[in-house]
Amino acid sequence: MQEDDLQERKRSHLTLCETSAVAFKAKTAGFEFYDFIHCAITEVDTGALSLDSDFFGKKTAAPFIISCMTGGVNEADNINLQLAEAAKELRIPLGLGSLRYALGNHVHDTILRQIRGAMGDTPVMANLGAAQIISNAPAFTQVLRLVDVLQPDVFVVHVNPLQELLQKNGEPKLTGFLQALEQFIKIIGIPVIIKEVGSGIAKAAAKTLLNCGVRGIDTAGAGGTSWAGVEILRNNSPEGTEFWDWGIPTAYSIKTIAKLKKKFDFTLIGSGGVNTPLEAAKALALGANFAGSARIFFHALKKGGVNGVIQEIQSWESMLKKVLYLTGCASLTELSRHNLIEKKDFH
Ligand SMILES: Cc1cc2nc3c(=O)[nH]c(=O)nc-3n(C[C@H](O)[C@H](O)[C@H](O)COP(=O)(O)O)c2cc1C
Repeated sequence: MQEDDLQERKRSHLTLCETSAVAFKAKTAGFEFYDFIHCAITEVDTGALSLDSDFFGKKTAAPFIISCMTGGVNEADNINLQLAEAAKELRIPLGLGSLRYALGNHVHDTILRQIRGAMGDTPVMANLGAAQIISNAPAFTQVLRLVDVLQPDVFVVHVNPLQELLQKNGEPKLTGFLQALEQFIKIIGIPVIIKEVGSGIAKAAAKTLLNCGVRGIDTAGAGGTSWAGVEILRNNSPEGTEFWDWGIPTAYSIKTIAKLKKKFDFTLIGSGGVNTPLEAAKALALGANFAGSARIFFHALKKGGVNGVIQEIQSWESMLKKVLYLTGCASLTELSRHNLIEKKDFH
């Protein structure tokens, strides 16, 4: 793909996500089907609550993640630098958008080093699409060079078959992905997470990925930003509209994948339409270790700059502590055990 096309694509994604109605239309992430079990006799001391979490061996101040977004054009680089500033202040992991633009292109090394520098010891996630994993196998020379430059803590590979299907010049062909992924995991030297971009990951797919050696699954389920929607708007044609709401609702994706923890040791990130602190708390109660959000934090940045993101995420932290108090949970581990009722059981 031409460099100019890639840049135009990045810019139009940013504009559409900032200004257009790109959310799912009729389908939700499914958190409204759950309620917390209120504990009328809570003895939790809110002052003693800690949200400290472990992200692949690094301590974070809260179980929240700024999901992977953008990069490679000036405005995107600025967004990443600002998000890095916020994430560092909050001590939470930051996901960078796809680094495809930087493969074999040294021009971006400076900004990547700047982002790493701005994050200090706080976890940074590199990101590439499945298509780049296939095309860079088996040696992954360019990817290894990027790892050397950015020094990420974790490598996120996104799988987005629906988006590729609808995207102009998309690459809807994942043949050979699992084999390439296994090689990638052996060679890369840092934990690998697989994420979707808004269509969710099924339990069976998660199991296959964990058997390949993946250390984390990020649901990026349905109900939040619709990347089918974004591409349909970009194409300026109604073709593919049937797929606007395609995908597995995030709550279901989290709940079912969490069951695999009995057999596998992995980090589960619940994301996709996690738009409020209560939804994040429900994602954690359903079994996610971290809750991630993209477009909501992007909007917070556009509206209020770095401080806007910091304030938004601090309000999530404060709300999460209130939920722990009201459910009688003294820790996040306790929250993940049976603290939700399904609304279908109300009657
Ligand atoms: C502006 C923007 C750019 C994105 N770019 C990437 C990307 O490069 N790689 C990726 O894995 N996901 C990317 N995403 C997808 C998000 O990480 C996330 O999975 C998806 O938007 C669903 O989460 P949400 O409902 O919280 O937005 C992007 C999202 C936004 C809003």
